[in-house]
Amino acid sequence: MNNHKWWQTAVFYQIYPRSFADGNGDGIGDIPGIITKLDYLQELGIDAIWLSPHFPSPQFDCGYDVADYVNVEPEYGTLADFREMLAAAHARGIRVILDLVLNHTSHLHAWFQESQKGRDSAKRDWYIWRDGVDGGPPNNWRSVFGGPAWEFDAASGQYYYHFFLKEQPDLNWRNPAVRAAMWDAVRFWLDMGVDGFRLDAINAIFEDPALTPHTSTADEMELLRRYWDTISQEEAVRLDAEGELLFRHQHSQPQVHDLMQELRQVIDAYDDRVLVGEADEIAFYGDGSNELHMIFNFSLMRSERLTPAWIRANQQERLAALPPGAWPCNTLNNHDSPRLFSRYTAGEQAAALARVHLALMLALKGTPFLYNGEEIGMIDYHLHDPAQFRDLVGVWIYRTLRETLGWPAEEATARASQMGRDKCRTPNQWAHTANGGFCPADVTPWLPVHPNWAAGVNVADQEADPDSLLHFYRRLLHARRGAPALQMGEQELLHEEADDYLALLRADAVSGQTCLVVLNFSQRGHTLCFDLPFASARPLFSSHARRPGPDAPHALEIAPFEVYIGELIRY
Ligand code: NOJ
Repeated sequence: MNNHKWWQTAVFYQIYPRSFADGNGDGIGDIPGIITKLDYLQELGIDAIWLSPHFPSPQFDCGYDVADYVNVEPEYGTLADFREMLAAAHARGIRVILDLVLNHTSHLHAWFQESQKGRDSAKRDWYIWRDGVDGGPPNNWRSVFGGPAWEFDAASGQYYYHFFLKEQPDLNWRNPAVRAAMWDAVRFWLDMGVDGFRLDAINAIFEDPALTPHTSTADEMELLRRYWDTISQEEAVRLDAEGELLFRHQHSQPQVHDLMQELRQVIDAYDDRVLVGEADEIAFYGDGSNELHMIFNFSLMRSERLTPAWIRANQQERLAALPPGAWPCNTLNNHDSPRLFSRYTAGEQAAALARVHLALMLALKGTPFLYNGEEIGMIDYHLHDPAQFRDLVGVWIYRTLRETLGWPAEEATARASQMGRDKCRTPNQWAHTANGGFCPADVTPWLPVHPNWAAGVNVADQEADPDSLLHFYRRLLHARRGAPALQMGEQELLHEEADDYLALLRADAVSGQTCLVVLNFSQRGHTLCFDLPFASARPLFSSHARRPGPDAPHALEIAPFEVYIGELIRY
C-alpha cells in the first residue's frame, strides 16, 4: 500500500473554459462542452482537472475578475451544469480543482459595489480605500497590468487600490469579515465535492500597510521596453532587480503565511482536498504541512531553452530547498505564458523535442500540470489585428507602444501580440473542419482559431495517426500510471556532466520499483554506461523502436531525441 495522496500521483490538466469546448455553438467554451470531452480526457490518461475561473465575471481579465464566487458564468452554463460535470468527472475517476482568486474581485462584485457607495458603507473596509496626497494618488505604486495602482472614485473623493486592472480592486484581507465571507465560498464548493483549489496571485494578497513608496526610477512599461531591447543575461538580471524595486512593497508581505495557514485549516476540515499555489516561493509550503500542498516550480520554465544542465540545476536547488514532507509540482506552460511547443522548440526538431518535454514533466519527481492543447502540439497564435485582442494586457501594451512611444502600427501589433496572452488562449482544435471544430463554421469564436488545424494540429487527425503527438501523450501517460517509481519515487540525477541528455533514477521503496529515465535533448545518439547495481533494464517506454529484450545499463543505446524509461532488474 502506498501512502501517497491522490494529488501526489495525479497528472493534472488545465482547462481554460472559454477555449476548451463549445457545447452550444456560440463561439465560447462552456461547461456542457467540457462534459462532452470527459471521455477524451479519460482516454488521454489524466487524473485531475484544474479549471480556470468559471465564475460569473464581466471578463475584463478573462474570468480572473470574479463577480460572484458561488455561481457559474452564464456564458459557461449553470450550477446544475457544473454539478453534472463534477459528477461525470468523478464517475471517470477524474478529480476537479477550481481557480480561487483571493487577491481581488471584479469591480462589479456586490461586495465592491457596496463598498463603493461611500465612506460610511458597511463594506468600505473590505477593499483598500485611501485619501489622495497633494491632489494625487496616495503613493507612487504601479499596477502590474500598467498605469497607477490607484483609481480615483469621484463620488467619495478617495482612491482604491488594484494590483492588477482597475476592474480588479484588491480585497482588504486584514478585515476578518472578508476572510469569513471568502471561506464560506470555499466551503460552498468543497461541500459540493470539489477536490481543491489553485490559488491565484497569492503573493500579492497583502501590501505594505505604511504604503511606503517605491524608489525605482523606471515605470513598468519602461522596464518591459528595456527588457525587449536587451539580450544579455546580466542585463536581464539587472532588470529583474529593478522590477523587484518597483513592486517590492506590493507583495511578499509576511501576513500572507498566516492567511494561508488559516485557509489550510478550512481545507483540512474536509477529507483529502488540495491547495496549489500560483507562486514560486517555497515559503508557501510553510513547514511542509501547514500551508499549501504544492507550489508550482515556475523557475524551471524561466529559460530560453530547456537544457539538461538547466534542468539539473533547477532540480538540485528546488528539491534541496523543500521543507520535509513537501511535494514538488512541475509545469511548462499555462494560460499566462507562451505555449510549450512555441517556447522551447524550433524548426525541424520541434516535434521531437515536444515529446522529450512531456517526458520531462512525467518523469521528474512531483505532480505534473499539463495545459489544454499541449497534447496535440498547439502553438501560439499571434493576432494580426489589435481589434481582435481580448487580453487587456495586450491592449495596454499596444496602446502604449502606439500612443506613448510612437511605434508604427504593424510593429506595435506584432510586439503586443507577442507580449499579450491571447496567443496561448485560442480555442482548442478538435477536428479538421472550419474553426478547428471548436464551433460551427458560421460562428465567430471569441478568439480566432489557429489556422494550423488544417495542417494536422487537431484532435481528430491525430486520433487517426498512431504516430501523432496525441498518441505519444496517451502512451506515456498510461506508462506513468503503471509505474509507481515514476509517480512516487525518490529522484537521483545521473551523469551530471552530460550536455546532451538528462538521466535520472526514480526509486519507489514501497513497490521496490526503480526506473532509469534517459531523455535525449539532442540530435546525437549515444551509447551510455550507467554504473548501477542492476543486471538489466526492462523497457517500459520508448519513443523509438528498440531491439526486443532487456537492455544493458552499462551499454544503453539511446537514439537522437529518444525518451527511454526502463525498469531496472536486480542481479
Ligand atoms: C494570475 C492569473 O493566472 C492571470 O491570468 C491573471 O490575470 C492574474 N493572476 C490576476 O488574477
